[in-house]
Amino acid sequence: MRSLISILELSVEELDQLITTAKDIIDHPEKYWDCCKHKKLATLFFEPSTRTRLSFEAAMLELGGTVLGFSEASSSSASKGESVADTAKIVSCYADIIAMRHPREGAPFVASQAASIPVINAGDGGHNHPTQTLADLLTISRELGRLDNLTIGLCGDLKYGRTVHSLIEATSRYTGVKFVLISPKELKIPGFIRYNVLEKHQVPYIETTSLEEAMPQLDVLYMTRIQQERFEDPCEYERLKDSYILNTDKMQLAKEKMCVMHPLPRVNEISIKVDDDPRAAYFRQALNGKYMRMALILKLLEEAKNPTKVAFDTTGLVSDKICSNPKCISAVEQELPHLSRITDAAENIHRCIYCEQRV
Ligand code: NCD
Repeated sequence: MRSLISILELSVEELDQLITTAKDIIDHPEKYWDCCKHKKLATLFFEPSTRTRLSFEAAMLELGGTVLGFSEASSSSASKGESVADTAKIVSCYADIIAMRHPREGAPFVASQAASIPVINAGDGGHNHPTQTLADLLTISRELGRLDNLTIGLCGDLKYGRTVHSLIEATSRYTGVKFVLISPKELKIPGFIRYNVLEKHQVPYIETTSLEEAMPQLDVLYMTRIQQERFEDPCEYERLKDSYILNTDKMQLAKEKMCVMHPLPRVNEISIKVDDDPRAAYFRQALNGKYMRMALILKLLEEAKNPTKVAFDTTGLVSDKICSNPKCISAVEQELPHLSRITDAAENIHRCIYCEQRV
């Protein structure tokens, strides 16, 4: 039995297989109508969501299954102080698979360790969002016909934007992918992406503050919202919130076959006038999310027929360092061991196993 907490848990072959299944679902939806009959998806959303939750629910319904769950923490026992682990154990009694969104980084991982059914990370704080990446990969594949030899520009809040982190983790494993990271200096990508993914695997990337300068070289432009809810200092958000606005003038600088993506919701970072440009793929991207979630649910439920729990990798684990990230699940979850792993032995760098911040 397998969960999906980080996109790195899926190999490139598995990502390609999910894309193939999703395309088959698009072409032959009727083949899949009864695949999840009598199966239940629990959507445990401790943080607001429109697309992710509804697309998970639509995905399960289109597979012939049913859904149960909640869409805000206040309507769950979390408001009475229940731990994530206990909630996961309880929901394992009632459902066959869980999709969990949580404001605390590492919460779905903790749930997956406690649950006896697969857990899908539907976004954990500013950390990861693997199923948005599945939507993104299908979108790039359908819009551009390939996932290799791409120059991908990511623009906006690269620090707190969890979709950006998972997308870099996934696409950096394809051949010939280069990144142009466009952000204010305060919102650059975090260390667990910079060092553990880009530097470690020598993936080419450049960093810039100028969207205009980056524009002509891009095959994909991935715009993001400045993540207001993750800022500790509201004044900093006010200062940075209008950093980038993609408008029709800037679109003129782009390749004819570029594709503009955005996980949505947008605030003001893409002018509504851009929506009419054929290169604007963000609404198609939201639809692709449903097909990829269908493919993922099918895969995880199929694998769950073999109930052996995937062993947690304990190599290099250290328990004497306490994570200082206030948004980490380890800051609040009852009796959760503080565990970190050495990610760079030469520099003696440890990262928390829940949120991947340096400890
Ligand atoms: C994203 C998220 O929740 O991280 N939205 C989504 O899942 N489609 C992006 C965002 O909220 O800005």
